[in-house]
Amino acid sequence: MPTLTLRNTKLEDIDALVRLQREVYPNIPAWQNDRVAHQIELFPEGQLAAFYDNRLVGCASSLVIKWDEWAEAHTWNEITAAGTFDTHDPNGYTLYGAEVFVSPRLRGQRLGHALYAARRQVCKALNLRRVIACGRLPGYHTVADQMSVELYARKVLWGDITDPVLSFQLREGFRYCGIMKNYLADDLQSHGNAALIVWLNPDYDASRPTALGLAHDAAKEMST
Ligand SMILES: CC(C)(COP(=O)(O)OP(=O)(O)OC[C@H]1O[C@@H](n2cnc3c(N)ncnc32)[C@H](O)[C@@H]1OP(=O)(O)O)[C@@H](O)C(=O)NCCC(=O)NCCS
Repeated sequence: MPTLTLRNTKLEDIDALVRLQREVYPNIPAWQNDRVAHQIELFPEGQLAAFYDNRLVGCASSLVIKWDEWAEAHTWNEITAAGTFDTHDPNGYTLYGAEVFVSPRLRGQRLGHALYAARRQVCKALNLRRVIACGRLPGYHTVADQMSVELYARKVLWGDITDPVLSFQLREGFRYCGIMKNYLADDLQSHGNAALIVWLNPDYDASRPTALGLAHDAAKEMST
């Protein structure tokens, strides 16, 4: 049995990460290597990769944002600054899930669960209030001629339909908050839609600054 390891993504992982992303989404343009390098540079703690022995088999990429600035309709391109994560804000309270994927041949083996657990751990370690994401709805295209995307999502919540992504996220403890339209135009399976979801950190301590905020303020003080 191969051993599963999770760790922060390193620069030398980028080729394998982008290769796997291409395999996961054959019809969606993959990330550019220099943008992934920029993600790692801006927020190393938020970039997670899963390995079976030394083979990269999944990833979860996040940034920190001030959710109030993004709560209205937005696209994936806007909130991630086209995948550069230049929108990362160390003074925010929200860990934003920009991407998660697992090798197609290894689905259903709890790798997604391990990546989500690690992401929740990042949220707790940094004393952030929550994780928010806009999840794909890849099963929607099979019934899009029969129902609205809102009804589709409700049917997933009711347990009448299983969606490969939203059903997984609900099992991971996320709450569904509504549909984000035109989130990712290239995502034809979801008809461009995404499900806005949130997980609240039960250990969040509002009386303490976030770890990133603290480090950011300290760095600012040193430079003055
Ligand atoms: C969403 C995703 C990351 C989940 O990864 P995963 O490793 O399959 O997740 P897990 O194994 O932890 O959980 C999947 C659930 O489906 C079940 N499952 C069983 N067989 C499965 C199969 N062939 N494929 C997928 N899931 C299966 C698992 O048992 C598990 O249910 P449980 O939590 O009740 O045990 C993965 O499906 C993926 O990479 N999708 C494509 C990329 C994508 O759309 N990402 C979301 C971006 S918003």
